[in-house]
Amino acid sequence: MRATRRAFLGGAVATAGLPLIGPAIAATAPKVIEPKPVSHQLAPDGYPKTAVWAYDGASPGPEIRLGQGARLERRLVNGLDQPTTIHWHGIRVPNGMDGVPDLTQTAVAPGESFDYAFDVPDAGTYWYHAHWASPEQVGRGLHGPLIIEEAESAPDIDADLVLALDDWLLNEAAQIEPNFAIPMQMSHGGRIGNFVTTNARHDFTQDVQQHQRLRLRLINMANARIFPLALQGLDGWVVAYDGMPLAQPEKVTSELVMGPAQRIDLLVDVTAAEGGEAYLVRLDDDGGMVQAAFPVTARASLTRRPDPVALPPNPGHAMGTLGSAQTVPMKIEGGAMGRLSRASVEGREMGFREMIGQGQFWAMAGQAGLHDTPLVTASMGETVRIPIENDTVFPHAMHLHGMHFREVLGDGAMGPMRDTLLIAARERREIAFVADNPGDWLFHCHMLGHAASGMMQWVRVV
Ligand code: C2O
Ligand code: CU
Repeated sequence: MRATRRAFLGGAVATAGLPLIGPAIAATAPKVIEPKPVSHQLAPDGYPKTAVWAYDGASPGPEIRLGQGARLERRLVNGLDQPTTIHWHGIRVPNGMDGVPDLTQTAVAPGESFDYAFDVPDAGTYWYHAHWASPEQVGRGLHGPLIIEEAESAPDIDADLVLALDDWLLNEAAQIEPNFAIPMQMSHGGRIGNFVTTNARHDFTQDVQQHQRLRLRLINMANARIFPLALQGLDGWVVAYDGMPLAQPEKVTSELVMGPAQRIDLLVDVTAAEGGEAYLVRLDDDGGMVQAAFPVTARASLTRRPDPVALPPNPGHAMGTLGSAQTVPMKIEGGAMGRLSRASVEGREMGFREMIGQGQFWAMAGQAGLHDTPLVTASMGETVRIPIENDTVFPHAMHLHGMHFREVLGDGAMGPMRDTLLIAARERREIAFVADNPGDWLFHCHMLGHAASGMMQWVRVV
């Protein structure tokens, strides 16, 4: 089992499997979700269509939108020619529904199916994506939004817009660069695309009116790109990070930075007048680029609303007691220009050169790739602290499956609940969480090429 572990994020290991004869017909047969190759007009008109992999023919995949407390049921039918799974990023699920090959389920072979079914306890903005050979499967388009609406006190808004931010690495014929294991990318900042999109459009536009209030659900679905964002012609408040409501809305006064897999729920009021434009702006090295345009078309018939109030908190997230916590420090090492000299790969000590030969560039707590023993074993209800030292010259987006954490801030205060933390080069940060979801949970960098080349650990809750 262990020998195959690296395969699910790293690349193509063929798994022979017999196609199912066909699911039993039941009145309650779940809706099917099928990843398969399609072509999509991604690049501007005049360019050929791009061959992508998509759920139900759409990338991003179909929006799954449910009420809080509802049951999500989907039958994954694998229409690819390689195994796959679906991970429901950020939502609390029973371990067996988490979609991590070899850790929580067997990967679904081509033509086969797997039924995902679980209740969704938390309102907020989540997403789903493939978790087998993730750099390639996510990079080719296998991801979509998962939106859970508040059971009560939903905010007063005029429109609810999901904005899936992504980038693609395309060649001159607008086709996806097929090598997802380029050492130069994996050992640096990861695979950064040359074509940036919002909801798979390079020119995403939504007409608005002055004084409208929009809920923008931003999701960074890119393999590795960090999005620094700003608002223009819009007054904004952050109301949730990674699906979890803030106790108080935070007025947007500086740039918003989103690492891979992170989400931000924004409430924005259109301040630009009729004929003007409002924008979500991406702050690139060469200046501001339009990430989403909001032309103000209709004559204003609205008046300005009072500032927004907080979203209702999600139930049952304990705060934890730091004093009695189990503390497990973790150092991130490796990458280009790093100081890593050796690490354990599949349980065997290797020098950095030999690691490179195995496609491993990074280590966490001295280990590259998944090992038989978890980084942390916690008992149910225990508080866990992980001080993280990023001893590399690259940022990393650390994601914990199954549970949200808080950042332990310098003064002992706790940051907002998150499931993915962006850690800058050479930075030290600390997270704490209550181990309240039993099972084996992956803890990895969401720069997917980093995960595939070493940055994976796991946490066991018993
Ligand atoms: Cu969205 Cu294991 O990740
Ligand atoms: Cu990383």
